[in-house]
Amino acid sequence: MRYHLTTFGCQMNDHDSERMKGLLESHGWSEAGVRDDADLILFNTCTIRGSADERFLGNLGDAKRVKRERPEAIVAVGGCWAQSQKEAVFRDFPFVDIAFGPGEVSRLGELVARERIEAVGAFSFDGAFSGTLPAKRERPHQAWVQISVGCNCVCAYCIVPSVRGRERSRPLDEVVGEVTALAATGVLEVTLLGQNVNSYGRDLPRDERATFAELLRAVAAVRGIARVRYTSPHPKDMKADVVAAMAECPEVVEHLHLPAQSGSTRVLKAMRRTYSRERYLDLVTRLRDAIPDLSLTTDLIVGFPGETEEEFADTLSLVEECRYDGAYTFLYSPRPGTEAAERLPDDVPPDVKRERIARLVEVVQRTAAERAARFVGTDREVLVEGPSRTDATRLRGRLRQNITVNFTGDAAPGALVTVRIDGATSTTLSGVQAGAPARADLVPA
Ligand code: 5AD
Ligand code: SF4
Repeated sequence: MRYHLTTFGCQMNDHDSERMKGLLESHGWSEAGVRDDADLILFNTCTIRGSADERFLGNLGDAKRVKRERPEAIVAVGGCWAQSQKEAVFRDFPFVDIAFGPGEVSRLGELVARERIEAVGAFSFDGAFSGTLPAKRERPHQAWVQISVGCNCVCAYCIVPSVRGRERSRPLDEVVGEVTALAATGVLEVTLLGQNVNSYGRDLPRDERATFAELLRAVAAVRGIARVRYTSPHPKDMKADVVAAMAECPEVVEHLHLPAQSGSTRVLKAMRRTYSRERYLDLVTRLRDAIPDLSLTTDLIVGFPGETEEEFADTLSLVEECRYDGAYTFLYSPRPGTEAAERLPDDVPPDVKRERIARLVEVVQRTAAERAARFVGTDREVLVEGPSRTDATRLRGRLRQNITVNFTGDAAPGALVTVRIDGATSTTLSGVQAGAPARADLVPA
């Protein structure tokens, strides 16, 4: 029996998909290269913006075609879109056999094993953490580690709390145990994952209570782990102890993705982000003081209800002041059931939104290119990922600052090498491998 899985959305979904594959393969399934060859057509979906829904629905149309040609094929839809459509999915898409939310990944094996499937749905939030399920990982030296699921924030634009439920943290010992086991298999770099990673631990029972800073230190101390990343933190939970852990643990990389969403205090308040522009800028100053060479990236939303030209200009100047190494920019899109969609008119006209995002992207690219230039002429530690995507005779790897570098060299994937950087654009660097590996003790045989 063969499955075909298509994944949409964030790293949390990429991680859940690794677990879906691991689970299916532990139940005897193998992967099909194309949908037409699959007995199970599976989707792991996203619904963060209207555009995510549209992308997925195009693919679901293709599954409908396969189902028409081969009615015995099973069509299964998991993830955030499925959760958001739990009332309507079987009515609107009668060819769908199975639908399940992100909290029910652990039940996938059981759902597809049914003798006869009659539109079964699973949408609770109390299934096992997908981090505890078997995984099929694509990269042997890098791994995602789920530390929490769900989100207790009330950001006015965001559908995530309603599709991923309340926040639940995994006990610290369990996370450290998983990282230790990964290190034993040759994993050098872990990325701690959660919808709001740095509010980690507050929901744990008293005798297991731990903070995100304590978790960071414990993971960084695992033998064999050379790099620790995490995503995404909320600025409101970026307390001094987290900044100190980042500054003091050499394994915790000099990169932080710190979603700002807007540079206007009025808009931030309407978004219910609970910080002002000034507090965000103050946090960035403290981070830069504590962590030299920090690379900072962010998410920005353009055209939130009521956003004026002046308020948008505050976002432009935020980018200049924070000197981001990169930013994801999004057009505001009302999501059903969110506070913004229910209470605030989507009143910034589409052409104004588009014009603003174009101006924002320009500033982001200019700033990122200026920032990238600081690497040129320096030697950097690079974790080799494989051949370059544009030139197979060269290698591709990543700096601790999370920037991709294409370089000439002979190292194997998984090696940590020193690369002399000799060129930069706003998104990638180029260079030449120099000398011996940066940390010979960590390079697998
Ligand atoms: N419209 C536009 N962007 C959104 N994001 C979340 N919800 C919306 C929305 N309704 C963006 C935020 C978040 C990123 C993952 O997606 O910037 O950080
Ligand atoms: Fe998309 Fe958000 Fe779900 Fe990730 S958590 S898949 S971004 S809706």
